[in-house]
Amino acid sequence: MGEIGVAPIGERILDEYLGGGLPRGGTTLLVGTTGTGKSILSLQWLAEGARRGETCVYVSTTVPVERIKSYYGRMAFLRDVADDIRWYHMSADPKELIPFTFEKQIKFFSHSMPDIVAEDGEFLMKVDRFVLDSITTIEKLISDPALYRFIIYRIIKHLYGNGITTLLVEEKDMADMSWGETRNFVEAVLYMERVDLGGYTRAMKILKRYGVDHPIDWIPYTITENGIKL
Ligand SMILES: Nc1ncnc2c1ncn2[C@@H]1O[C@H](COP(=O)(O)OP(=O)(O)O)[C@@H](O)[C@H]1O
Ligand SMILES: [Mg+2]
Repeated sequence: MGEIGVAPIGERILDEYLGGGLPRGGTTLLVGTTGTGKSILSLQWLAEGARRGETCVYVSTTVPVERIKSYYGRMAFLRDVADDIRWYHMSADPKELIPFTFEKQIKFFSHSMPDIVAEDGEFLMKVDRFVLDSITTIEKLISDPALYRFIIYRIIKHLYGNGITTLLVEEKDMADMSWGETRNFVEAVLYMERVDLGGYTRAMKILKRYGVDHPIDWIPYTITENGIKL
């Protein structure tokens, strides 16, 4: 697979393991417990895109973007390009959600980022890298697992149909064994966790990356001012 088919993270070794980066035009799932560095890795990926002059979009479903920007934006890897990333906050009044449909979800996208997504879901500009942090908020709002699975499937299909290179973040509850329904619909899955490798450390696993012969063991990493380092 050549450079054309990937969107690099900018972490040399991780990119190498992933066959050059995240699959262009496809969807990657980044799943892990809180505090493992999912948001940082997502932003690292966007920062790398911004440095390459790509249009990068970050959608927060939890914390308002001003706060996200002031917290992570101070980190060295993001400082110089924070203003080149498009930041959005997607919030929804639960009262408006029932009954929940894909069309309603598209409207939330549109209302949260009117310059990017039209009411009918059409993309109004070319987006090179898209992060949704996190889909767990949507899962919690919908609460019905079958409906959630259906909506997520439709969202992924819609983004794929529009050629959007997407990173979906999923918060895994420590005790929850049922995470990752989404993993069946995506081309790549990265799993981040605190693990005991003779002393606790952060480590990730590449659970899936179509077309690439990747490592399957735990890959320890640290979080630094420059982002995730292997
Ligand atoms: N400048 C930094 N240097 C080292 N570690 C940091 C720095 N800033 C934040 N962290 C670590 O990153 C963690 C948060 O990462 P984050 O991406 O927000 O996690 P997640 O999105 O998975 O919940 C914090 O718990 C903290 O330990
Ligand atoms: Mg986060």
